Amino acid sequence: MTAPVRTQVAIVGAGPAGLILSHLLAAAGIDSVILDQRSREEIESTIRAGILEQGTVDLLATIPGSRVHTVGQRHDGIELRFSGEGHRIDFPGLTGRSVWLYPQHEALKDLLAARLAAGQDLRFGVTATAVADADSLRPRVQAVDDAGVAFEVEADFVVGADGSHSVVRKALSGSHGGYFREYPFAWFGILCEAPPSAEELIYSNSPAGFALISQRSETVQRMYFQCSPEADASAMSEAQIWDTLQERVPGTSLVEGPIFQRDVLRFRSFVARDLRRGRVAIVGDAAHTVPPTGAKGMNLAVADVLLLARALEALLLRGDAGPLDGFAEAASDRIWKAQHFSWWMTSMLHLAPEASEFDRQRQLGELRSVVGSEAGRTYLAEAYTGWPFA
Ligand code: PHB
Repeated sequence: MTAPVRTQVAIVGAGPAGLILSHLLAAAGIDSVILDQRSREEIESTIRAGILEQGTVDLLATIPGSRVHTVGQRHDGIELRFSGEGHRIDFPGLTGRSVWLYPQHEALKDLLAARLAAGQDLRFGVTATAVADADSLRPRVQAVDDAGVAFEVEADFVVGADGSHSVVRKALSGSHGGYFREYPFAWFGILCEAPPSAEELIYSNSPAGFALISQRSETVQRMYFQCSPEADASAMSEAQIWDTLQERVPGTSLVEGPIFQRDVLRFRSFVARDLRRGRVAIVGDAAHTVPPTGAKGMNLAVADVLLLARALEALLLRGDAGPLDGFAEAASDRIWKAQHFSWWMTSMLHLAPEASEFDRQRQLGELRSVVGSEAGRTYLAEAYTGWPFA
């Protein structure tokens, strides 16, 4: 065992949550060490969702070199399609806010470059194995580097931003886990080489099941359709994939092109019971997962991190533990609103395998009430564009 590494905040995970936290802490004069078991290349090539709330974009724009405003595209609405008709939800008209389409891996490239340029201690290929002394003033992350050498990071505070299989979460909650829901469907996602099929994203409820026509750039598109959680991503031909998508977006002729990536995304809703214990906290996917229908994942991680950064500034710079004591409750408020929104969008738009004709008609009634009422459209737009940060 080598001598421990010392820092003020040990961050496990170099995804959006961990990197943004290190940026905010550094801006406040607090040093941190980030560990991630993946390589930089793996982190930069992980395909995730692409919709950022206004508040997330405003924060990313403060990071030196961020391309969120140049490569990212502002979207002022989405379309909900059902019963063969499209209904636009006009975000600025309803809320004064918009969202941005900026793929998460592009945001990660910006963040990694900016943190490394700023001299951040960021260690790739390092696996955190446990957290010790969570209830003390000196919690420690136990880790193994890429050469198999064990070492420890000793800190004033440990943050788990280490994704849904979080090691830090175990130190915090032991065996009593959290609140969990599974769904009887998944998304079959593709990336293809084609121009956009529509100006804005289309969320389509069709008798054959849900489809989402999203985008990536002028030449690459991202599309999804509802499938069984057991579906095998390699089992369908390109022609079958296009037939499935086309059937589910009646009224739009999708522009087809070579499919160069496909995956099956499982749906889960999860919230950890404890977000903090002593001097250890978890944020982002380590603390919660949402189904992708409302595009809340990364946005929720950013909201957690803003709260935690303020709490750590108060604790480490002013010796004030008040904001940290309120962290879990403040974060939970938004987490459960986003859980509800993601569940609601999911259940309103997907066809459950066991759905009866009653369920189907009720769902269409729900969609008509939402699009037919300014209050309904505003509720959706407020949640989609993101509630203002506290
Ligand atoms: C995506 O483009 O990957 C995407 C967009 C909107 C969602 C989910 C995923 O709701």
